[in-house]
Amino acid sequence: MSTSLNASALVRLLGPWNTGAGPAYRELADVVRLLIMDGRIPLDAALPSERALAQALGVSRTTVTAAYAGLREQGFLSAGQGSRGRTGIPHRTVPVSSPGVAVPDGILDLAHASLPATGEVVHRAFADALKNLPALLPGFGYDALGFPPLREAIAERYTAAGVPTTAGQILVTSGAQHALNIVLQTIAGRNHKVLVDHPTYPNALDAIRASGSRVVPVPLPPAPVGVADAGPGWDMDLLEATLQEQRPAMAYLVPDFHNPTGRLMSDLQRRRLARAAAAAGTVLVVDETLRALNLDGGTTSPLAAFSPAVVSIGSLSKSHWAGLRTGWIRAEEGLLGRFIATRTTMDLGGAAVEQLAATGLVRSFDQPLGARLALLRENRAFLLDLLAEHLPGWQPERPAGGLAVWSRLPAASSTALTVIAPEFGIRLAAGPRFGAGGAFEQYMRVPFTLPPAQLSTAVLALRAAQDRLDAAPQLRRTLKHAPDVAIA
Ligand SMILES: Cc1ncc(COP(=O)(O)O)c(C=O)c1O
Repeated sequence: MSTSLNASALVRLLGPWNTGAGPAYRELADVVRLLIMDGRIPLDAALPSERALAQALGVSRTTVTAAYAGLREQGFLSAGQGSRGRTGIPHRTVPVSSPGVAVPDGILDLAHASLPATGEVVHRAFADALKNLPALLPGFGYDALGFPPLREAIAERYTAAGVPTTAGQILVTSGAQHALNIVLQTIAGRNHKVLVDHPTYPNALDAIRASGSRVVPVPLPPAPVGVADAGPGWDMDLLEATLQEQRPAMAYLVPDFHNPTGRLMSDLQRRRLARAAAAAGTVLVVDETLRALNLDGGTTSPLAAFSPAVVSIGSLSKSHWAGLRTGWIRAEEGLLGRFIATRTTMDLGGAAVEQLAATGLVRSFDQPLGARLALLRENRAFLLDLLAEHLPGWQPERPAGGLAVWSRLPAASSTALTVIAPEFGIRLAAGPRFGAGGAFEQYMRVPFTLPPAQLSTAVLALRAAQDRLDAAPQLRRTLKHAPDVAIA
């Protein structure tokens, strides 16, 4: 569905766009382009009229006219023909196709760390779901808690992993992001603090901000240069001290193949974290969306094994398929009751067929994972080799699991790279999307979810984009500040 953006909404998204380092029209066009590429301005959205935007920004109309003309020329804005131009991503002449992988308009997507469905397994689960559907048809077909056999199957997986769980402790949601929003709306909100790993998953940051809560970022220690294995994990002293001093209402952490670094928190660190959160009166919420993507076979217990008060969020999006839109919350029954009350203010339950299919998938959870993990291990090694060969100045951290590599760049150029990337046929998520207050301008997340041939093309494109920046360092200065207001 097409949307339109009014001038004040665009001004908010633009943030401090005008650094004075170049002509205003070019800076304006560059930042709008970044916002489109980053997904913060939706595609097919009508931008404000030139007059309205010029007025809202306090610049001359000529500046906006020239910026829009530049965007039109580059294909980021449709011609408009009297009506307002609409946002888009330029088409390339040679489309790159890949069945099952989202490649909009031939651009290789390094902004999303997501995989196609696990082969035939998901399709078969849906075929079985349709066969089983008639048994559900005489009933209402929905339940705010979720389909009971699915809740049972999820509970059994926790129990098998050493965390005794009943179906009464499981709420099925439409994915992990939905789960996080339910939790935030229940226990955080205006005048509440939410502690996060820093960097962290951008959509979680957006959800926390949208809830009105104040983000309390706790930096992850940087990876030591040249150390291949056993990343530095978490700074437990700092986490404990921050919990004790700030006493946030909630802490949102990703201890299992953390997004974006791919780190795995040790059991020792898990124990300290659970204890510190309990002492601070903080509800510890752990996002286990990536827990099944264990590439190095590290053994850890789910965080809930260390405290019954932990709230766990899970999802089938990374292990099986994001198109299932199926996730869950595991919590003590009392708290779960509050989550259910919140959930019914948003929706009344998940769709029946998806939950039937998810039940089959959770019951035989590990079946498709072997092949998926083998492919991801190969892709991880391939990407790390490509980066070493073509971008030797980058300092990637080797992830213990997950879908992406987090790399330090030789210069603070993440936003500028992201802005020019489409010209080289790639789409990137700038480092600052993973942080608060413009941090991580010197970092980039590179997923290894594309097939090797495309990964190779994408890294060569990254190299070409980096060469362009090295040849025109003023671009880096112009785009130093990434706007930190985001639309997921
Ligand atoms: C850490 C983390 N949490 C949540 C999500 C979103 O999961 P879902 O598709 O289940 O909403 C993602 C997806 O990238 C993620 O990486």
